[in-house]
Amino acid sequence: MKHSLCAAVLAIFFPAAAQADALLNQARQIFQPLPAVMASPDNPVTPAKVALGHALFFDPRISLDGTVSCARCHQPALYGTDGLAKSIGVKDRLNPRNAPTVFNAALEFAAHWRGDRKNVEDQATQALVGPPSFGEPGYEAAMAKLKSIPGYKEMFAQAFPGVSNPVTPQNWGLAIGAYERTLVTPAPFDAYLKGDTKALNPRAKAGLQKFISYGCIACHNGVDVGGGSFQKFGVLEDYWKATGSREIDKGRFDVTHNPADLYVFKVPSLRNVAMTPPYFHDGSVATLPQAVRIMAKVQLGRTLTDTEVSDIVAFLDSLTGKLPKNFMASPVLPPAPFTPAKP
Ligand code: HEC
Ligand code: HEC
Repeated sequence: MKHSLCAAVLAIFFPAAAQADALLNQARQIFQPLPAVMASPDNPVTPAKVALGHALFFDPRISLDGTVSCARCHQPALYGTDGLAKSIGVKDRLNPRNAPTVFNAALEFAAHWRGDRKNVEDQATQALVGPPSFGEPGYEAAMAKLKSIPGYKEMFAQAFPGVSNPVTPQNWGLAIGAYERTLVTPAPFDAYLKGDTKALNPRAKAGLQKFISYGCIACHNGVDVGGGSFQKFGVLEDYWKATGSREIDKGRFDVTHNPADLYVFKVPSLRNVAMTPPYFHDGSVATLPQAVRIMAKVQLGRTLTDTEVSDIVAFLDSLTGKLPKNFMASPVLPPAPFTPAKP
């Protein structure tokens, strides 16, 4: 009661402040600030698990040719991506899609552009045998390499206490997943959602307003500004005509074989999007303004002016967070007694 009276008085004397508060209130209905750690009841985040996952994330020796770690395609210097249109894995094999950042990925409802991985743990486990990723012919080969490194035997034992044979593909996934659950990147937009109305500049606020009123939020919402649903790319016109994609990816259709899933992809998180070009599942678009223009056109049937594009980009800039400290450098890895296979 007191509060609303206060707001009414404020609105009479400071209309701009009231408007800003209205925008904040609206934003709070749609988005949430990042948590400190992206905890999961299925995979408690413990210091021993995170230390092991951190080491494994940066270790290339477990891959088929000894050159590929998670960090090859999810690099600290490139905000958890590789800067390529499509990633290159073991034996220079081309990945069919673009590498999204690993930051805040644990909050998404599924992993991969087509949602064919359940969560970060499942993703990490399957990467071991993915032909264009680590390329191991089977899990036994990967586990044999891990078991031959005495330091890892000890780290797995500490991370999974009381387990008789802790070096398993599942525990590899749990350890890396626990590490990924610490890779949160709080940004100016989080400070704004928590009430610091000065955290966004006027340009970014104008962009947020448009992002809401033009309908981007129908798909890009929640804590990750995306990452919560599957949607068709190209609602109003074929996406490849707008992006200039040379190959046409059928998206989730190739996973489910359901005609309703033709050209359907996971809505990506837009956190750190300014730092992770090129854009879209095939890396076909080089700049963020161009990606924003294409989205407005093919998803919403709206042709944006230059000012509208730069306002929305200013809002997206406010989603760039700080690099997690435990991601900036590779940890020192336990020495291996074997020579990895020749690339
Ligand atoms: C050869 C490059 C490469 C390697 C190595 C690699 N990734 Fe990726 N990663 C990708 C690509 C490409 C995708 C998107 C794949 C897709 O959607 O089809 C991806 C997707 C992901 C995602 C899902 C992100 C999202 O928004 O859906 C996570 C999480 C991830 N990788 C973590 C890892 C971890 C952990 C490792 C090591 C175990 C790893 N990656 C190894 C290239 C790579
Ligand atoms: C109907 C759902 C929908 C709407 C509305 C929508 N998007 Fe998207 N957005 C998607 C999907 C799906 C993708 C992934 C497309 C792909 O690459 O396959 C995407 C991708 C993006 C990307 C590229 C992200 C990356 O990492 O490559 C940006 C930027 C983006 N959207 C911004 C916007 C903006 C700005 C608006 C409003 C003008 C908007 N989107 C409206 C569903 C939507």
